[in-house]
Amino acid sequence: MSALLEAKNIAYSVPERGSSVFGSRKKTVLQDVSLHVAERETLGIVGSSGSGKSTLSRILTGLIRPEKGKILFQGQDLRDANRQVRKDIRPSIQMIFQDPQGALDPRQTVRQIVKEPLHQMALSNDEKERRVLEALADVALPQDAADRYPRMFSGGQRQRIAIARALVTRPSVIVADEAVSALDVSTQAVVLNLLLDLQKRHGLSYIFVSHDLAVIRHISHRVAVLDEGKIVETGPTLSVMDHPQHAATQDLIDASL
Ligand SMILES: Nc1ncnc2c1ncn2[C@@H]1O[C@H](COP(=O)(O)OP(=O)(O)OP(=O)(O)O)[C@@H](O)[C@H]1O
Ligand SMILES: [Mg+2]
Repeated sequence: MSALLEAKNIAYSVPERGSSVFGSRKKTVLQDVSLHVAERETLGIVGSSGSGKSTLSRILTGLIRPEKGKILFQGQDLRDANRQVRKDIRPSIQMIFQDPQGALDPRQTVRQIVKEPLHQMALSNDEKERRVLEALADVALPQDAADRYPRMFSGGQRQRIAIARALVTRPSVIVADEAVSALDVSTQAVVLNLLLDLQKRHGLSYIFVSHDLAVIRHISHRVAVLDEGKIVETGPTLSVMDHPQHAATQDLIDASL
């Protein structure tokens, strides 16, 4: 299978807390991370808190630059691409952010929130409006949801708003950072099934990030285990879960039982 989105030898570090500008020490967040996702595939990224999952998600979607390594979309190095190409690629890679409260601005209507990723795209206002309503329908929110505010919705519905915002640009890959972690177990299952359904309907690829292997098991074809900023194990989800090779994987399995 050829890669749709690929990370090659990604490294990232942040200044150590308390270190000064002079002789600053660095804390490694990601080290030599390589992974890929193919068309219509779901790659799960699993790791304990602080293992670097959100940082990796932001690098994969181009929100932050890696210190070393590169991100390729359909074989095209995003760093080498000229402005126009980058602008064309950007809508193809979307993110669902961790922390659903923070991700949805409470002062904005659902219409404004879902429309936001379209600002960079050269579309008429009518077309943008049409896309917003289409995205809301896609996640089974009523059309009158557009004029309401996030607080008027349940946790599961708010997550649907976040998914609609990711869908509105018609991406080919969505990086979902802990997309169901804030939800109760039964709502988690409903939202995961929605994501599976959207994947089938739109031929989407997912990079699905979670600390919870039970969730990863439900949705991922392959899994990569992140431990202290390194990928320590990768393979088909069921074989990794049934025959874990690394202590970090076993710990995550024990925690999800
Ligand atoms: N901008 C930053 N400044 C300081 N430290 C950072 C920064 N970004 C990430 N880190 C550190 O990098 C490590 C990884 O953080 P990250 O948020 O990527 O982990 P995570 O796996 O998403 O954790 P969680 O499961 O809790 O969401 C943490 O130790 C975090 O404190
Ligand atoms: Mg995180």
